[in-house]
Amino acid sequence: MSKPKVVSLFSGCGGMDLGFKQAGYELVWANDFEKAACETYANNLGSHIVHGDITEIDLKKIPECDVMIGGFPCQDFSMIWKRGGLETDRGNLYKYFVKAVQYKKPKIFVAENVKGLLTANKGAAVKTITEDFARIGYKVSVDLYNFADYGVPQIRQRIFIVGVRNDLNWEFSKPLPTHDKSNYVSSGKALVGVKKVKLNNEHQNIAEKTIKMLNLIPEGGNFSDIPKNHPLYVKGMISHVYRRLDRKKPSTTIIAGGGGGTWGYHFEEPRPLTNRERARLFCYPDDFEFFGSITEVRKQIGNSVPPLAAKILAEAIAPAFKATSKLKAKTQLPKQNRSSTLISQTRLKAKAL
Ligand SMILES: C[S@@+](CC[C@H](N)C(=O)[O-])C[C@H]1O[C@@H](n2cnc3c(N)ncnc32)[C@H](O)[C@@H]1O
Repeated sequence: MSKPKVVSLFSGCGGMDLGFKQAGYELVWANDFEKAACETYANNLGSHIVHGDITEIDLKKIPECDVMIGGFPCQDFSMIWKRGGLETDRGNLYKYFVKAVQYKKPKIFVAENVKGLLTANKGAAVKTITEDFARIGYKVSVDLYNFADYGVPQIRQRIFIVGVRNDLNWEFSKPLPTHDKSNYVSSGKALVGVKKVKLNNEHQNIAEKTIKMLNLIPEGGNFSDIPKNHPLYVKGMISHVYRRLDRKKPSTTIIAGGGGGTWGYHFEEPRPLTNRERARLFCYPDDFEFFGSITEVRKQIGNSVPPLAAKILAEAIAPAFKATSKLKAKTQLPKQNRSSTLISQTRLKAKAL
């Protein structure tokens, strides 16, 4: 059987794409508008990546595919549910993903997003998303994952929205976890031998004051461990700030941006993690080279789907490509019944972990 073909939107450096490739898929087209991310993608995954704004790309130029994947940017939540004319549509990147799916009609689509999407606009955003995809002919599942439950050495909660084209005789179910708290992969294990890796492993220069501060924070702790009467004490910050890894546990969520204090810090040495250490916490192979400045690479990694998580999802949907199509068998339901079936098949299975 030939490999299922993947078209990828909002591809970033290609974390999700790498997972699909590892699961035996063929990547045929990808797009992102960040130059450095495209450079990383092209050097590791292939020159099929097109650099440019998705809103300016002619959908006719996207090749045929079996599966479309992508992580539309999260800042669009406020716009997703808005119904309006073209003015509202412009810049609403989620709608471009819907349009692309509607135009290319892949058998399956997989969209990744942050947990916050489940509660955005008091649930209206996710409801609109499932309805929009149901309307264009897909059975939609929305599931929350903690990637640590699948062997990623990082507590990272994200959702996958999986759409299965209505005519396929196949139903998606969330893959069963492979790990739990008793056997999570720890950050200490993930970082074994990392010092020997040359690519993207440079240390950043940090202020003397930051080193002093980190020395006051124990392994696994954060800014709140600095004694209140200490001159370096800082108050009222989010838990990410000056968070040091605990080598016995998966890392906490590695984020893409944010100023001083949010870079993720080593458990033993008083310093921020290197990008290679971050890449290890996302399960990138050591020969996957990232391009761009330290900040750009941090963003690419922090934005990405851990390839291992994407691979597990890609394997879970693989049986769909062997499934028969009702369309081919000419057993399509009458139009009226079909739309009501669509709505009833739209499942919202997300539950907090
Ligand atoms: C969450 S990241 C995707 C990460 C990717 N799925 C991975 O696993 O590496 C979202 C990406 O959308 C890209 N993006 C945002 N707006 C875009 C636009 N208008 N056109 C193309 N790409 C865009 C960003 O540059 C970013 O890389």
